[in-house]
Amino acid sequence: MGSSMASGTGWIPENLDPARPSPARIYDYALGGGHNLASDRAVFDQLIKIQPNARQIAWSNRAFMRRAVLFMIDSGIRQFLDLGSGIPTVGNVHEIAQKAAPECRVVYVDIEEVAIAHSRLLLDGEEKAAIVEADFTRPDDVLKHPETRRLIDFSAPVGVLAIASVHHVAAEIDVYSAFDRYREKVVPGSALAISHFTADFENVHAKEIIETVQASAHNPACLRTRSEIVDLFGDFELAEPGVVAVSNWRPDITPPTGVQPEEDGIWAGVAVKCPSRISSTTAERTDS
Ligand SMILES: C[S@@+](CC[C@H](N)C(=O)[O-])C[C@H]1O[C@@H](n2cnc3c(N)ncnc32)[C@H](O)[C@@H]1O
Repeated sequence: MGSSMASGTGWIPENLDPARPSPARIYDYALGGGHNLASDRAVFDQLIKIQPNARQIAWSNRAFMRRAVLFMIDSGIRQFLDLGSGIPTVGNVHEIAQKAAPECRVVYVDIEEVAIAHSRLLLDGEEKAAIVEADFTRPDDVLKHPETRRLIDFSAPVGVLAIASVHHVAAEIDVYSAFDRYREKVVPGSALAISHFTADFENVHAKEIIETVQASAHNPACLRTRSEIVDLFGDFELAEPGVVAVSNWRPDITPPTGVQPEEDGIWAGVAVKCPSRISSTTAERTDS
């Protein structure tokens, strides 16, 4: 990965409106990244006042992503589809995966212009990872994209990741059908990891946070409940400990970030497609 390319302003697309913040860049700032603008930082400054541990929440989420990828590697998965991958920062999926197993391939998917521009710069010359510009709620746009077809072999297990991205999908969009499609497309042995912001946690001012981001960034958001998030996993089998506060998901693998689970504001889980599901999906895969 050419991290030297991260410097300079090549990551700022020509038509970008610098006055309009974006959730991807606000999140980049929360993680300590360098690909954000004054408008993004101003929103985050408001968020910190509402939720003083906002940075730790972002890091807890990022740490879960790492644990989920390593869990999938341990399960034999060597290819990944990262839905809503965001602005590349420290510890991207292909870096985590390829450090553990160099043959791993990764397709990143995002719709945000800086996330796309910066991913293209960082992935230039990367043979085993690519960025696809697509709306992940339109699975065919992702699954039939030439880069997805080049990098992902759908006859082998795939790790599908939706880390802190589904809460950016408005309630009116049928995100459940989209996830049905991803789950159907992959073979047994594949896995799905989801983390999702929620208003279920008493100590997290989730509604105020989302309203503050929406007021300036005009991006959709939806705070789903735990049971609505569990439904996204469909008939996949949840790995222990199930859907839990993000820092409670197998916390022993990486050091905890210091956030108390009741302050997470994020539900997270990983589920696996079991062999018994093969008969219902074979026909569709043969057709597609
Ligand atoms: C908070 S960031 C999370 C980034 C990364 N997954 C992580 O957890 O570190 C959410 C990302 O999802 C992207 N996103 C939201 N809705 C999307 C959609 N419908 N299709 C593709 N990307 C989407 C946003 O542009 C943003 O980059």
